[in-house]
Amino acid sequence: MSEVTTAADQSGDALENLLTESRQFAPSVEFAANAVIHGGEYAKANADRPAFWGEKSRELLTWSKPFTKTLDWSNPPFATWFEDGEINAAYNALDRHVEAGNGDRVAIYFEGEPGDTRTYTYAQLTEEVKKAANAFEALGLAKGDRVAVYLPMIPEAVITLLACARIGAIHSVVFGGFSADALRSRIDDAEAKLVITADGTFRRGKPSSLKPAVDEALSAPGHSVQHVVVVKRNGQDVNWAEGRDVWWDDTVGQASTEHTAVGHASEHPLFILYTSGTTGKPKGILHTTGGYLTQTAYTHRAVFDLHPETDVFWCTADVGWVTGHSYVTYAPLINGATQVMYEGTPDSPHQGRFWEIVEKYKVSILYTAPTAIRTFMKWGEDIPAKYDLSSIRLLGSVGEPINPEAWMWYRRVIGGDKAPIVDTWWQTETGAIMVAPLPGVTSTKPGSAQVPLPGIAVDVVDELGASVQHGHGGYLVIREPWPAMLRGIWGDNERYKDTYWSRFDGMYFAGDGAKWDEDGDVWLLGRVDDVMNVSGHRLSTTEIESALVSHPSVAEAAVVGAADETTGQAVVAFVILRGSAVEDADIVTTLRNHVGHEIGPIAKPKTILVVPELPKTRSGKIMRRLLKDVAEGRAVGDASTLADNTVMNQIAESLRK
Ligand code: WTA
Repeated sequence: MSEVTTAADQSGDALENLLTESRQFAPSVEFAANAVIHGGEYAKANADRPAFWGEKSRELLTWSKPFTKTLDWSNPPFATWFEDGEINAAYNALDRHVEAGNGDRVAIYFEGEPGDTRTYTYAQLTEEVKKAANAFEALGLAKGDRVAVYLPMIPEAVITLLACARIGAIHSVVFGGFSADALRSRIDDAEAKLVITADGTFRRGKPSSLKPAVDEALSAPGHSVQHVVVVKRNGQDVNWAEGRDVWWDDTVGQASTEHTAVGHASEHPLFILYTSGTTGKPKGILHTTGGYLTQTAYTHRAVFDLHPETDVFWCTADVGWVTGHSYVTYAPLINGATQVMYEGTPDSPHQGRFWEIVEKYKVSILYTAPTAIRTFMKWGEDIPAKYDLSSIRLLGSVGEPINPEAWMWYRRVIGGDKAPIVDTWWQTETGAIMVAPLPGVTSTKPGSAQVPLPGIAVDVVDELGASVQHGHGGYLVIREPWPAMLRGIWGDNERYKDTYWSRFDGMYFAGDGAKWDEDGDVWLLGRVDDVMNVSGHRLSTTEIESALVSHPSVAEAAVVGAADETTGQAVVAFVILRGSAVEDADIVTTLRNHVGHEIGPIAKPKTILVVPELPKTRSGKIMRRLLKDVAEGRAVGDASTLADNTVMNQIAESLRK
């Protein structure tokens, strides 16, 4: 059962502060003069959205067969874009740059966690992808087949994704921090034929493994996987299933460098990416080719003011998340940019690692998450001060609301008080950035994602779906189809309609609360459903509750996302133990590990509180709002709808003990 709180509930007093934000930073004359995109773009897009996207698509992409249609919205909420066109994503990301004489341009500077490095030019990366495409085909992979990808942040991840796209196979990346169980359920849902993984990776100077989770996931029979391709990354010993497992070097390494990319239909599926929703089972978000590539490429150029000949772009997201799909794997390469790819964490071997990388590769555009920025703030500004960050000319933020204080710190300490900050709002489902300033046009404002991009119809509406006035809050919706929109949930059209299109008639409901300020800028206020945002990672309260109650000691569980200074939100669980279970210090550790095993380490609750009862309405819904008050140390709000109004006292009493 989901308890939907209103946006106003979520924002509380903070709203007043938001609305009085008066600091604004206009682009410098020089920045504006050299910007890729000018202000006229909004009017052009408004005049005819589908035509605008059609023009962008022709400009930014090379179609194998040109399209004659743009949008078809005759069967909402199922959209098609550029339906009669054919295109190959890998050809657009690779071959065409080589053909245009840019084969020697660096595509990827890879920085490994232990400090090893590799550089791939466009010509080299094209060759690697052709080899991988041949190797995957030799293993029986064909157009339309699904491939589960469970890899660390290494170039083979990008190579794998592009090789799949090249042959029309559909990749489904599972973040390396997910458990064997989570991996198995995603493999099963997509009926993946091939798994691409690595022996492991490195975390904070130590080897950490991946292959054992794949072995565990495939240990029970009845799965669809025929082969597992294993990249040798950290040299750990691995178990080997003869006939099933093959080393990357023995297959891809030996394959031919000749491979011709053919065009696939614009609406051919490109990938599935699972994300948490309000119910327990993760949803396989489906993206297709032509529209997705158009909007990712356009937004990457427009929002980051990309000058591919001179910029060095670094998006710090893992390829396991949508940001690592759109702004590591696809858009930068489609646009012919040079980018940095980093395997490790910001604190290893020291807290200056990010800034060392910026200095070393002369990163000019940095795209990271507020949780990282708040961590850097905590570590102190002397750390970045030791490095030359003068190459930076633009900063991006994504994944959660960025508080004005962190925004100001980012601008001053990392951006040298001059680099514009683009706060970008979007989702796995939207495929590409939807709301963000245009850095050569918009005066940026700390804390606000600001303006729907040209060609994007974002609105804030009230309970009944009516637009709210400037100065008011409500729900973020999207009123018109957009090119990179999800095309559905893998195998479940009804769930797609229910989840996104049923709350407000004819509008896509994003699940976020938002507000227009008096200037007409959008402020994102966080999720209004049962989705939590921990360090920019989406986690479902229900999914973690299910994991907890699957443990024999737990009778009932309720999970909330409590405000956390660094991670945005933290997972706090309230559990009722079964009569027979004893409450001791170990139970908390046991349950945390159990969640880690069921879902993955990222989902482990920060705090688990053992309580005698949970607050429920008469209809049996858990009132998470009240638990959130407890978790955040606030006076408990209105509890009048509780079936038993002594419950909150019982909880308070048990926590005092
Ligand atoms: C949140 C990540 C505020 C939001 C690209 C959204 C943000 C969810 C921002 C999607 C932002 C993302 N400001 N909130 N700039 N960017 N969010 O699918 O709640 O992992 O619904 O996609 O993250 O998370 P997802």
